[in-house]
Amino acid sequence: MKFFIDTADLGEIRDLAATGLVDGVTTNPSLVAKTGRKFLDVVKEICAVVAGPVSAEVTATDHATMLKEGRKLAKLAKNVTVKVPLTPDGLKTCRALATEGTMVNVTLCFSAAQAILAAKAGASFISPFVGRLDDVASDGMALIRDICLIYRQYPTFKTEVLVASIRHPMHVVEAARVGAHVSTMPPNVLKQMYNHPLTDKGLAAFLADWQKTGQSILDA
Ligand code: E4P
Repeated sequence: MKFFIDTADLGEIRDLAATGLVDGVTTNPSLVAKTGRKFLDVVKEICAVVAGPVSAEVTATDHATMLKEGRKLAKLAKNVTVKVPLTPDGLKTCRALATEGTMVNVTLCFSAAQAILAAKAGASFISPFVGRLDDVASDGMALIRDICLIYRQYPTFKTEVLVASIRHPMHVVEAARVGAHVSTMPPNVLKQMYNHPLTDKGLAAFLADWQKTGQSILDA
């Protein structure tokens, strides 16, 4: 499973990229707004830090303007993935950009029907939002299972399932269990994935016993 980081915060991206575990980045207009910085500068800088796909979202809602925005974003760096909303205009734009060889991430997916449309429109990624579905008492992970099952029936679909709106490590584990291609997670979720109290306890015990030996590996 690939790990993307869902943030536009360059500091967080640099720190987490250094772990070697980050395969890409997703941003959205809300995340960019939080930075208070110029969108295009932020995208260029992220693309220089992370070699994998970096999603940058269009903000127009009509096809002609979305296409212009998408083309402009795609020129910023080779690894830009243009993000479009799952609307009729968004999917038309997806098809046009995909035909030109640009990677497209179709966002704001909340149903299997929408995911089928995105695959037919040539999306590189479909982003179903699990957390936002859970928030309204729907089963976000059931949607991921459904989409993975459907896509597997059609080897001609090249669209990767990019699980979005992740809120906690178990969303990532469940997504991996059903074979989703990518999880995009806020930085805190990736950090939480390391944690287990038995790891901390076990390490403390090993180090205490080691200290009693008076040895040092580097001095040996
Ligand atoms: C995905 O690409 C979106 O940016 C993101 O996952 C949305 O998450 P949220 O529901 O936590 O805002």
